Amino acid sequence: MARLTIKGISKSFGATSAVRDVFLDVEDGELVCLLGPSGSGKSTLLRMIGGFEEPTAGNILIDSKDVTSMPPEKRPTGMVFQSHALWTHMDVFNNVAFGLKLRRLPKADIRERVEQALVLVGLADYAKRMTTQLSGGQQQRVALARSLVLEPKILLLDEPFASLDQHLRERLREEVRDIQQRLGITTLFVTHGQDEALALADRIVVMRDGCTEQIAPPDRIYRQPETEFVAGFIGSMNFVRTTVRGGVSQHAAFALSVPVADGEVVLAVRPEALSLVAANGMGGGIVHRSIDFGTHKIVEVDLADGARVKAMTSSNSAWAKGASVEPVASAFRAFRDNRLVHESGAIAARQNDRVFGHA
Ligand SMILES: Nc1ncnc2c1ncn2[C@@H]1O[C@H](COP(=O)(O)OP(=O)(O)O)[C@@H](O)[C@H]1O
Ligand SMILES: [Mg+2]
Repeated sequence: MARLTIKGISKSFGATSAVRDVFLDVEDGELVCLLGPSGSGKSTLLRMIGGFEEPTAGNILIDSKDVTSMPPEKRPTGMVFQSHALWTHMDVFNNVAFGLKLRRLPKADIRERVEQALVLVGLADYAKRMTTQLSGGQQQRVALARSLVLEPKILLLDEPFASLDQHLRERLREEVRDIQQRLGITTLFVTHGQDEALALADRIVVMRDGCTEQIAPPDRIYRQPETEFVAGFIGSMNFVRTTVRGGVSQHAAFALSVPVADGEVVLAVRPEALSLVAANGMGGGIVHRSIDFGTHKIVEVDLADGARVKAMTSSNSAWAKGASVEPVASAFRAFRDNRLVHESGAIAARQNDRVFGHA
């Protein structure tokens, strides 16, 4: 059980600022996902927490103890990397036991703890197997057991399942969540997959260019993105560029009240917050196509300015290609220079509330 505090951490490699002035508190037993595009500094931040990289500035505290310059093996952290470096000349048991042997634990204790760790990751019957005889998913389970057996207070996972296929990845992440909850272990999980972050995290840290764009629970990240980048990075989003004059958007299809100073803004509207009404060709849009997902439909609409927006409708809506429609936004957020300048309405708590509400 441990609490992690990151105070103004930065890391530069020569002229590259990999991580810039990051502040983050992770509560005891919390699972936090670091989410961001490739090169946004996720691994560098995690490696600094694990002690594999020394920060250029800032401090890292675990349970109020400063560990900033402590070597990895002295920290109460365990790290699992994307590519598991397992020892190929050792069987599964010895791979998992390795760290405990270094710590010179009695043989009987080592056996007991390794067996427990193998049960935890679902490999109880594989102790005698050589790691070369394991599938990719099983190898990652061994890597996880090897970390867990040392009973770290904080578990650090850097895209541990990125090399596995979708189905296996989903199963393993559910198992990790299950183990994490059972052990109550404070966990940081790096991913570039939004689905993974939404499915796993108590809170998500969205990173971009070494900075944190937003730190919030998954539903807030989805419904109340604080920057244009976050709005576009998670889930499906319509962006409409428009000019505001006298507090009103000048866009023909989105003539909305936007009480901000005159100038350019980007309106962000979720497909589920966009509904369609029949129009007579005046200023609205033309239905390009309608895609039936069974539970709902996505109707693509071409606007006069060339932009295409998506509206989520009930599964029994019947908008024909070429129909003249007017998009109506029940909720939107306006951004200027990536910053939120105005919000209006709220996105329904669950997509289906809205879908079936319209059926
Ligand atoms: N050892 C290193 N030497 C030089 N540059 C590095 C090193 N590690 C990372 N970087 C740079 O730091 C930035 C962040 O990298 P990284 O933390 O790996 O991002 P992510 O994990 O989000 O893909 C990138 O521009 C990357 O090229
Ligand atoms: Mg990385």
